[in-house]
Amino acid sequence: MKLKYNRTMSFPATRMRRLRRTDSLRALVRETAVTPGNLIYPLFLCPGEGVRRPVSSMPGVFNLSIDEAVNEAEEAARLGIAGLLLFGLPERKDERGSGAYDDNGIVQQGLRALKASPASKQLVLIADLCLCEYTSHGHCGLVVESPGGFEVENDATLPLLARASVSLAKAGADVVAPSDMMDGRVAAIRQALDDAGCAQTPILSYAAKFASAFYGPFRLAADSAPQFGDRRSYQMDGANLREALREIALDLDEGADMILMKPAMPYLDVISEARERFGVPLGAYQVSGEYSMLQAAFERGWLDRERAILESLISIRRAGADFIVTYFAKDAAKLIG
Ligand code: PBG
Repeated sequence: MKLKYNRTMSFPATRMRRLRRTDSLRALVRETAVTPGNLIYPLFLCPGEGVRRPVSSMPGVFNLSIDEAVNEAEEAARLGIAGLLLFGLPERKDERGSGAYDDNGIVQQGLRALKASPASKQLVLIADLCLCEYTSHGHCGLVVESPGGFEVENDATLPLLARASVSLAKAGADVVAPSDMMDGRVAAIRQALDDAGCAQTPILSYAAKFASAFYGPFRLAADSAPQFGDRRSYQMDGANLREALREIALDLDEGADMILMKPAMPYLDVISEARERFGVPLGAYQVSGEYSMLQAAFERGWLDRERAILESLISIRRAGADFIVTYFAKDAAKLIG
């Protein structure tokens, strides 16, 4: 076929396909990479010994007793994974979430055990900081009755989060990661850490955390589903980008060292905008629903497992995340090799 070229177009001088012809050419011009060192692996600690209880909503994810978690951590360290994000399933829950700030709480015990293991000591141990796994009602803060039914109290929750942060830091957390979305919590935590002699403990703030259906499978894993109502009075409305940027600015102002965006794939635009605006280390959380959705498709043979895992992670890195919290951390580290 004889094509008519006009002088302003660059074809045929420019042919984008020239650099796509071979593996090595594609590797040479690849703009984004994901390495095991970019990945954080979440673990769910539970009481007992030798416990490895599968989470039904998340194939490949387990509730682990501390001894099992140490094995898992050692494997993660061998794979070059950057760190762990620790969640806890306490023996008992109460209205004030006291398991979160109990010096002998499940995550505190886990931190001590992990710090005693030479291999896992190399990992950055991040303690998720929230009340929802520890409260009998499953909300992320204190609950009081109100004319509208109930209210999750903001200011009364702050001292509890602050107390939990100190307890976790003293138990060995390298980083604390508040995920509750109370206003002012970063400032309260920073002050408490400083007052307790933990001025070197960084805060990774879940600055922009959206009220998302994609947390569904996690709530089974962490046994943290709210017993009534939902989290929309404290987590963000998924429609709001500008508000997310305000949340980040406020948390940085209060002293957050790093920020975490969550969920990841349905909010890549928010990650990308945050990356443009803020020159701080930024992570993204590929949450349980993102994981389970992919796993379900793999089980049905609808998606190619290896390619879909890596593509999902690359997309999050490309949007601007420095690091990614993902349940695929071990799988991905093995694939990257
Ligand atoms: C605790 C917390 C949640 C997640 C991380 N920290 C649950 C929630 O907010 O309901 C979700 C993680 C995931 O879905 O993988 N507040």
